[in-house]
Amino acid sequence: MKKVKIVINGKTVEGIQDQSVLSLARENGIYIPSLCFSPEVHTSGGSCRVCLVEVHEGKSMRLVTSCNYPVREGIEVKTDTDFVRKIRKGVLELLLCRAPESEKIKELAAKNGITQARFFTDSPDVHLKNCIACSLCTQVCEEVVGVSAISMIKRGREKEPAAPFMKASNTCIGCGACAFACPTGAIEMKDTPETRTIWGKTFEMQKCSVCGTPFIPKDQLEWIVKTTGKDRSFFEKCPTHR
Ligand code: SF4
Ligand code: FES
Repeated sequence: MKKVKIVINGKTVEGIQDQSVLSLARENGIYIPSLCFSPEVHTSGGSCRVCLVEVHEGKSMRLVTSCNYPVREGIEVKTDTDFVRKIRKGVLELLLCRAPESEKIKELAAKNGITQARFFTDSPDVHLKNCIACSLCTQVCEEVVGVSAISMIKRGREKEPAAPFMKASNTCIGCGACAFACPTGAIEMKDTPETRTIWGKTFEMQKCSVCGTPFIPKDQLEWIVKTTGKDRSFFEKCPTHR
């Protein structure tokens, strides 16, 4: 791993060549907003565009998405110039049109001086309200969970995640990782003491073999037992009683 030095907002910082500008900025306490990037998901990022920054190299300047722009020796990054703020404002205004009721988007937009979007106000023909079509949920499902129960469908303003044929997915295990990862809270997941409902499918919850508290969908437990090959009795206990 090659160490390199770059300048962010006038401060020289040391990082690893090819790590993302966003991760290096975070390691050094420098705030850059982001929505579609998760450090646990290699395929994530590059979609929402709120993490735009200026990268200066010699006499050239480029506006790049910091979540997937690789750190290289000698570059200078500016995260909060007038130009960056102006473009970020426009990006957030578009995202607010797409997800007008998302608390996270509203909060980020308000921080950047936007309370109302000026662009189109008609809702796109989608099933998931407040989805910004960033793909993070499908990437988490495929890359982290490993079941690929959902995928992105359609194009343009109508692009959104869905289970195959818009029906209850055979492969979904009800883990909810997609809903936890979603930056806008667009994925509906309903938990009761006995069940979890997500993507149109209701899962029965497993009760802890020690205390009786329901703690995980039974399908998810089966998946964990199958993929780890470990003893089932261990996973039938809630985290407190393992
Ligand atoms: S549901 Fe959430 S995570 Fe999935 S594409 Fe839409 S905004 Fe992104
Ligand atoms: S966080 Fe970088 S493009 Fe979304």
